[in-house]
Amino acid sequence: MENLSFHVCVSILLASIVIVPTESLRPQNRPALFVFGDSLFDSGNNQYINGIKPTAPDYYPYGETFFKHPTGRVSDGRVVPDFIALFAKLPMLGPYLEPGEHNFTDGINFASAGSTVLGDLQPAMPINLHEQLNYFKNVEKWLKQKLGDVEAKKFLMRAVYLFSMGGNDYFRLYSMNPNATLSYQRHYSQMVIGNLTQVLEEIYAMGGRKIAFQNVGPLGCTPGAKPQNANLGGSCAEFPMALARRHNRMLLVVLKKLESQLPGFKYSIFDYYNALHDRIINPSKYGFKEGEAACCGIGTYRSSGCGGNNGTTKYELCSNPFEYVWFDSAHTTEGANWQLAKLLWGGSPKVTGPYNVKQLFEFL
Ligand SMILES: *[C@@H]1O[C@H](CO)[C@@H](O)[C@H](O)[C@H]1NC(C)=O
Ligand SMILES: *[C@@H]1O[C@H](CO)[C@@H](O)[C@H](O)[C@H]1NC(C)=O
Ligand SMILES: *[C@@H]1O[C@H](CO)[C@@H](O)[C@H](O)[C@H]1NC(C)=O
Ligand SMILES: *[C@@H]1O[C@H](CO)[C@@H](O)[C@H](O)[C@H]1NC(C)=O
Repeated sequence: MENLSFHVCVSILLASIVIVPTESLRPQNRPALFVFGDSLFDSGNNQYINGIKPTAPDYYPYGETFFKHPTGRVSDGRVVPDFIALFAKLPMLGPYLEPGEHNFTDGINFASAGSTVLGDLQPAMPINLHEQLNYFKNVEKWLKQKLGDVEAKKFLMRAVYLFSMGGNDYFRLYSMNPNATLSYQRHYSQMVIGNLTQVLEEIYAMGGRKIAFQNVGPLGCTPGAKPQNANLGGSCAEFPMALARRHNRMLLVVLKKLESQLPGFKYSIFDYYNALHDRIINPSKYGFKEGEAACCGIGTYRSSGCGGNNGTTKYELCSNPFEYVWFDSAHTTEGANWQLAKLLWGGSPKVTGPYNVKQLFEFL
């Protein structure tokens, strides 16, 4: 008996020495979520960019359903990363640039409406992908100070990295260079994918292992692309659709390659292109009444002008955004975002593969 109690005593002592870390991170060591992206994922960063003027999502009716006030999200309510955080039992991730002290132990959102992969950082412009990476490096520094190098790397290895990137690069190509030759289109996609790959490799070098992508969407089917396509009877513009499909094929190839080259690298690609396209052409199958025109804006498809410059110009607003796939010219409603987030989180391998985001969170 004496021996036994001695052993118990020792093991309790050991446990208190070995297991209790100097600074406790977060209950259950839940993986954090880091969000990189464009307007589809922005949770309000653009409001805090030095010198940038308020933009449409800073005005009513953006935010009208869930938040009851504008938050900088380009929707009537929550965006996809808000739901992913909810499913992962994390708090909603605020914008990195929001002033005040941050606790990055749950992750943070770097996404910026209008962001591109290509292009240099310019003052008073959206935060491009390379700059989002620089912000992430600041977070890594913060974690190293709080946790030490070893624990910080472990933390970053467990975290999930969620991306929505590339759509604006192709919007830019087709609006500025509508007659681009096929060989230039390929070259351009290679630059986008090349720069994206560099960023992924840097995140891997810092510890990141679990990469999730929402691929590039059906760019030619946005209400904003419709007027340019009026001669096609309102169907989707083929050029931007083809650019999106090429990018998505190349993204799959490069992620497979990284998986084979980088030990422990795991990825998830959500086929947002087809998931959204199907909702646009078959809205009633998914409980929507309208798949083509936006809830908010002016013109036949309400293809621009939502928010009306803070009420100084007129626009139309639907009474129930949950009946619509699109909220404005290029961004989906909270109702659509909820459905898309469920697919990204738990979709079958045909929709989100080879792993879905839930599985990425479950990997140690
Ligand atoms: C961050 O938040 C976690 C969980 O809420 C807490 O345990 C930790 O002490 C916080 N760290 C700092 C530096 O505030
Ligand atoms: C593209 O080509 C069309 C017809 O081939 C021409 O009308 C148009 O001006 C061209 N656009 C640009 C930006 O070069
Ligand atoms: C990254 O993009 C720039 C253009 O912005 C291009 O010159 C460069 O070659 C690209 N890098 C890679 C690795 O593709
Ligand atoms: C928009 O207008 C309202 C009332 O007219 C005003 O209170 C608000 O500050 C304005 N918002 C911005 C971002 O200018």
